[in-house]
Amino acid sequence: MSETKLKLEYGDYQTPADLAIDACRVLERVGIWPKSLVEPTCGVGGFLKSGVEKFLDLEVVRGFEINGRYVDAARQALGCVTTKADTSVEYADFFHTDWAAVVNKLPEPILFLGNPPWVTNAALGSIGGDNLPTKSNFQGHVGLDAITGKGNFDISEYMLIRLSEALQGKNATLAMLCKTAVARKIMAYCWKRGLEMGDCHIFPIDAMRAFGVSVEACLFIGSFNGRGKDRSCLIHKDFSVSEAATGHMGYRDGILISDVDKYERWNFLRGRSRYTWRSGVKHDCAKVMEFTEVDGKLVNGLGESVDFEEAFLYTLLKSSAVAGSMRGGKRKVLVTQKNVGDDTSLIARVAPNTWSYLLAHANLLDKRASIIYRKRPRFCVFGVGEYSFAPWKVVISGFYKKLGFRVVGPDDGRPVMLDDTAYFLSCSSESEARLCADLLNSDEAGGLLSSLIFWDSKRPITVEVLSHISLEKLARHLGREDELLAVTNQADPPCSAQAELFAMSS
Ligand SMILES: C[S@@+](CC[C@H](N)C(=O)[O-])C[C@H]1O[C@@H](n2cnc3c(N)ncnc32)[C@H](O)[C@@H]1O
Repeated sequence: MSETKLKLEYGDYQTPADLAIDACRVLERVGIWPKSLVEPTCGVGGFLKSGVEKFLDLEVVRGFEINGRYVDAARQALGCVTTKADTSVEYADFFHTDWAAVVNKLPEPILFLGNPPWVTNAALGSIGGDNLPTKSNFQGHVGLDAITGKGNFDISEYMLIRLSEALQGKNATLAMLCKTAVARKIMAYCWKRGLEMGDCHIFPIDAMRAFGVSVEACLFIGSFNGRGKDRSCLIHKDFSVSEAATGHMGYRDGILISDVDKYERWNFLRGRSRYTWRSGVKHDCAKVMEFTEVDGKLVNGLGESVDFEEAFLYTLLKSSAVAGSMRGGKRKVLVTQKNVGDDTSLIARVAPNTWSYLLAHANLLDKRASIIYRKRPRFCVFGVGEYSFAPWKVVISGFYKKLGFRVVGPDDGRPVMLDDTAYFLSCSSESEARLCADLLNSDEAGGLLSSLIFWDSKRPITVEVLSHISLEKLARHLGREDELLAVTNQADPPCSAQAELFAMSS
């Protein structure tokens, strides 16, 4: 394996000395004063050295590292510091270390300090790396979640969860440089399972400056000292501990909250709704399935001009275009099924030219890598159902960095499709869509939603977040309940389920 691949596989980005020193200073200021210091992936020993220099009551110092050269370097680094502590650096593979046994031998308070690899299992897969835990579905995802995006995880996420488990019941602190999204996942993992994780802090760092990578990252601190029962985390502006925290995230009602104060103000708008948020069509083969209109002709992503029946073609609004206008370079998408699992061979009879086109590009479609396409009808797509073909939709892009819901109506009398990074509610009429968009664009809806959204995430807006809002409660709060009832009754014959939902949301 090349040097670059090895560096990536082992997340080999050593922490600059000044950052390690500053992190120790922050720890001291938040009241951490350990007797044991452990660096589980210690590299050349930067954190071991600055920890020993800062925390003068240390009795035991342990470093672990998989790279033999770094073990020597870390031993040397520690050798240069005068300390009364019992110190050692061992060659060890994190995944084969019994962390509970390590922890049990340590005098308390214990500090686990370091910077585990930032690589994801997907990135490791792409370079053929195997620096991975044997059990990768450690969060217990099931069904599609287990085989799609949710099965992807950061190696550091796995490591920090294992350490948090090993530290339960101890007077201990975990302080790690990691992606901010990973820090949130660790807290969520512990809080959801009733594990202790308290006195939490997020201190943002400049990852570009320190490691040359563009990602939101932080020094994450979480403690296991029996004091942190409030499931909250203070968010700081930077390493200046003297300034008040700028935010307060936490865990309430079984969900991770980005702004606890806002959530407490607006959470009365949470609840079930007759409206279900959906994501758009997924096909994983844009070159074949998507087209742009050039001089009245359709051109696919391979640059080929194509001509076949309209039956399975729909106007496509990509997530990136949701914010802008639909004019200029209209896009189309082939939607080969009405429902997931539909037999696609019917296309051969209904639209023979479309079928010939699909067969001519079968080499690309048949090798779509995602496991979701295996053992399914040939040329199938995902994220389709009756809802995809509703004439009116209220749409938002998952990539938005602000809230804004848009009404999308039919194009040439046919429903418009969204891609799988946009989310929508399906509506039967324009008035229903306009009312839903109005409600969702209100300050009140924005209050609740923004208390749940982590804007620094890659895709801040998700179906999970959107699903918390009850349009019925929102309509009632805004005095528009009758309007909502009227448009929904127009859409479907009044049904007891709707009345029931209104009753439930009272
Ligand atoms: C991001 S570097 C940080 C090094 C050091 N903690 C620091 O802060 O400077 C990650 C370190 O983890 C080590 N590492 C990667 N996989 C490991 C494993 N399975 N077991 C132990 N160490 C590992 C790498 O060799 C590398 O030194």
